[in-house]
Amino acid sequence: VVHAPLTRSRCYNNLPGEHVALYYSQRASKGGLLIAESTGVSETAQGYPNTPGIWTKEQVEAWKPVVEAVHRKGGVFFCQIWHVGRASTYDYQPSGQAPISCTDKQITPEVLEDGTVEEFSAPRRLTEDENPHIVNDFRLAARNCIEAGFDGVEIHCAFGYLIEQFMKDSVNDRTDKYGGSMENRCRFALEVIKAAIDEIGADRVGVRLSPYSNCLDCWDSDPDALGLYMIHAMNKLGVLYCSMVEPEGVKVDGKVQIPYKLLHFRKAFAGTFIVAGGYNREEGNKAVSEGYTDLVAYGKWFLANPDLPKRFELNAPLNKYDRSTFYTPDPVVGYTDYPFLDLSSV
Ligand SMILES: Cc1cc2nc3c(=O)[nH]c(=O)nc-3n(C[C@H](O)[C@H](O)[C@H](O)COP(=O)(O)O)c2cc1C
Repeated sequence: VVHAPLTRSRCYNNLPGEHVALYYSQRASKGGLLIAESTGVSETAQGYPNTPGIWTKEQVEAWKPVVEAVHRKGGVFFCQIWHVGRASTYDYQPSGQAPISCTDKQITPEVLEDGTVEEFSAPRRLTEDENPHIVNDFRLAARNCIEAGFDGVEIHCAFGYLIEQFMKDSVNDRTDKYGGSMENRCRFALEVIKAAIDEIGADRVGVRLSPYSNCLDCWDSDPDALGLYMIHAMNKLGVLYCSMVEPEGVKVDGKVQIPYKLLHFRKAFAGTFIVAGGYNREEGNKAVSEGYTDLVAYGKWFLANPDLPKRFELNAPLNKYDRSTFYTPDPVVGYTDYPFLDLSSV
């Protein structure tokens, strides 16, 4: 039962505070793997309110007590490191510059469920010479994660953020060695993964992929080939784990069905395989017992149930999650105030 990476937009000034330590320690248990929310690798990596960073000394120091709190309870803690690329606006960028990406194509503005329009600024295409500097930011961020005490890092190569912008052919329109063929489109991702491995060791580096996702205008015409290409390359590098996201499921009788589309990836990957996307206790147990995956990452259920592994063990009822507080800035409400199971009542 893995805690999936969950952005909660409560790290004011990009710093995780005491409430963040409380949130993660509530969810820590002996031997349980927690993956921390997307954490920026540099000044240009940010695009959403109150998300943490790990590129400054101050940020590393701020993470230390959070990691300690998880370790005190025997948990294993990885930090997900990301760069949002073109999913940003001038407001988030140093000196109001354009966000950077593999392209200069802007993300199409999207009307969200609540009627607000999500609009990102027009990006600036990175030059071939600049790419190694961004790779280096990931390398330093991986080093900083270890300095902060994390057991490892998860490189965010999913959901339409910078690395995936390079990987997928709906976005990547480059004609240099970072665009065109599958090999070229995956080059940036693999350079980042290799840099992190060279810096902190392959046994501390996991990777998140979502070949089937189409978030932020980012999709691929051949997701199976893309996923397998990455997996074969990750095998050569000795990547510790691959965390993969199921494609979006269709609703049957009001319940979203898990597509179970990841088996060929699992079979091809030499390391530990993690799946995520709509799992509950029963489906997670089934997926593990049938050899579909090694581990299951839970997002929304773990967010709402600090003692999720215990509840699963006891087959106890779960707290419902409240979507309205997923990304609100309150340090308590919808964050650390989800109740624990009253064990005396079980
Ligand atoms: C509030 C929220 C924040 C999320 N933040 C991240 C994130 O920072 N990084 C990431 O890779 N996925 C993120 N996700 C996706 C989850 O990790 C997970 O894949 C998704 O919620 C599906 O799993 P679930 O059905 O168990 O919730 C987020 C999801 C939610 C609901």
